[in-house]
Amino acid sequence: MRILVIGSGGREHAIAAALRASRHAPEVYCAPGNGGTAEIATNLPVDLDDPANVVDLVRRIGGVDLVVVGPEAPLVMGVANLLAAAGIPCFGPKAAAAELEGSKWFAKQLMLEHGIPTAPAEMFENREAAGAYLANHGAPIVVKADGLAAGKGVTVARDLETAMHAIEECFSGAFGEAGEVVVLEDLLEGPECSLLAFTDGTTVVPMVPAQDHKRVNDNDEGPNTGGMGAYSPVPAVDDSTHAEMTAILERTVAALRERGIVYQGVLYGGFMLTAEGPKVLEFNVRFGDPEAQVVIPRLKTDLVDVMLAVTAGTLADLPLEWRDEAAITVVLASGGYPEHYEKGKPISGIEAAAAVPGVTVYHAGTARNEDGALVTAGGRVLDVTAVAPTLAEARDRAYEAVARISFPGMHYRTDIGVRALSGA
Ligand code: AMP
Ligand code: GLY
Repeated sequence: MRILVIGSGGREHAIAAALRASRHAPEVYCAPGNGGTAEIATNLPVDLDDPANVVDLVRRIGGVDLVVVGPEAPLVMGVANLLAAAGIPCFGPKAAAAELEGSKWFAKQLMLEHGIPTAPAEMFENREAAGAYLANHGAPIVVKADGLAAGKGVTVARDLETAMHAIEECFSGAFGEAGEVVVLEDLLEGPECSLLAFTDGTTVVPMVPAQDHKRVNDNDEGPNTGGMGAYSPVPAVDDSTHAEMTAILERTVAALRERGIVYQGVLYGGFMLTAEGPKVLEFNVRFGDPEAQVVIPRLKTDLVDVMLAVTAGTLADLPLEWRDEAAITVVLASGGYPEHYEKGKPISGIEAAAAVPGVTVYHAGTARNEDGALVTAGGRVLDVTAVAPTLAEARDRAYEAVARISFPGMHYRTDIGVRALSGA
């Protein structure tokens, strides 16, 4: 069996590692992959700006049994459609379903039409109309660029000036086409929580919950990032909240099906746990990064079997099993991330870190330089992941491993999982 993983982050390294551990013993290819995937799979260059390149790549390597798409952009651009047309199974939704992440207004309309709990919102195509609505609505308000904006398109505005500035930013082209439509939405309050689920378009199987840490610095200070760490399980999510979030994901998949859209892959719900129950903040159409790095290690069921069941539409026949152990991942980032940072810094200590019991170091932004040395190649560089019987032990192991790694400018949060342990 041959499987191609699309993407180059820690998420893709975790996916590739789990695929490699499968009883099917697949040959794994990663495109483009990173310094970590190179050790367990065959990295192949690909330009993901055009999803047709993925189909060409599959042909060039003589065909694969499955393509697993890590990031959202190729899905929104229709890579799953192109693969399906070429007869290649793809784990990841087709373009019409990927609109759940590709257009915030598409997702919002679907939710409002089907009574799926979310914040009330309106859509605007010019600054005058948005400004008039804002003046009437007042602050706080949440301003969202409709399309994909690499995690930068959302502003939670506590005052009118911030909101107006965010609206201006969208319409002045800061996010390209993604900002041509702006969604203004009511602010929700409460703790945030994500729930990811596998779905074949009919059956929805929730994963164990995971909690991301989005801000760059301790105590949730500094700018938002792609995620600085995560843990699972999440003590704040009790069984009834988990069930409510699962029901919301089920209703979402069913609502799409009513429109003739079959969603296959991972559906990621970002929720606000409000006083009135969980409400959807956003959907992602793929594994979270770094959530995947704590969820996938807890999956006992063979990941290849799960992915094949998703693409075959037979997920109902495959009961998923999860390990009781807890998992934590600490992201080691380049100094300056998420703004300007330097690349090419030599990394040391990964082997010593991986020698800590239960620790796996997933690579996020690494590469080999011309001398063959491992160097930094991105904002998020490594995800130091530990699995242990309890969250407290997993946290200790992860930070013991972190202490063994160094590269110039290395930055990480020291408080990943702290809130979970304090009982909050
Ligand atoms: P996104 O870039 O879509 O992941 O959204 C980024 C973050 O914006 C979310 O994780 C929330 O913290 C925040 N957010 C989005 N929508 C709302 C909302 N309606 N109320 C409060 N916070 C929100
Ligand atoms: N960690 C958040 C995301 O993957 O979107």
